[in-house]
Amino acid sequence: MGLFDIFKSKGSDDTMADTKIAVIYYSSTGTNHKMAKWAVEGAEAAGAEVKLLRVEETAPAAALDSNPAWREHYEATKDIQTASTEDLEWADGIIFSMPTRFGNLPAQLKQYIDMTGGLWAQGKLVNKVVSGMSSASNPHGGQEATILALYTSMMHWGAIIASPGYSDPITFTTGGNPYGTSATVGQDGNIVENIEEAVKHQAKRTVQIASGVKQVQPVS
Ligand SMILES: Cc1cc2nc3c(=O)[nH]c(=O)nc-3n(C[C@H](O)[C@H](O)[C@H](O)COP(=O)(O)O)c2cc1C
Repeated sequence: MGLFDIFKSKGSDDTMADTKIAVIYYSSTGTNHKMAKWAVEGAEAAGAEVKLLRVEETAPAAALDSNPAWREHYEATKDIQTASTEDLEWADGIIFSMPTRFGNLPAQLKQYIDMTGGLWAQGKLVNKVVSGMSSASNPHGGQEATILALYTSMMHWGAIIASPGYSDPITFTTGGNPYGTSATVGQDGNIVENIEEAVKHQAKRTVQIASGVKQVQPVS
């Protein structure tokens, strides 16, 4: 099977079985945790071996205590394994999910990315396949800019960006963001759009591309 046959492959098969995907998320109040879990389901359905990993909370306790939803979500998810740099070495593909912070990455995720200098220096992030998703309170509150900020760092890694583009009609019914799936979080804390299938499509596409890239890696 050639590279493009792999990209076009529609379902789970043996070529996906040895593809390792890390779904790495940061979430204060649960939105991106939910999106990350959908991504895990999508990647597993495509046949990958998947890890759900939470970015370590770095905000002071007083900040969490000032927002009951933040404190509650932290307590409910603190047992989820935190992402380490070894997880990046393990993974063939990485799906990031993060809320927008003034149109940019949350500091917690930026801190994690800033810990990857050692791997970067060894060339171990080259050809990782990456894909990003984001949420904001407003439909145009900075999701695209946040995903692009992620992708800027990914280009420094030498990663291969697996954006969804318009590779599936689902993008047209979920806000049309070709950079990565976008969520709008309503006043009630729930996601306004029905994006579950868009997230799963993005995850499947990431698996397919990671699988293809893995098979054509130059032997060193
Ligand atoms: C410091 C801060 C900055 C934010 N900046 C924006 C913003 O620029 N635009 C926007 O629409 N929402 C903004 N938000 C809202 C968050 O993006 C929203 O709460 C988040 O997407 C929810 O995701 P989570 O439940 O995974 O934490 C901001 C929230 C915080 C705390």
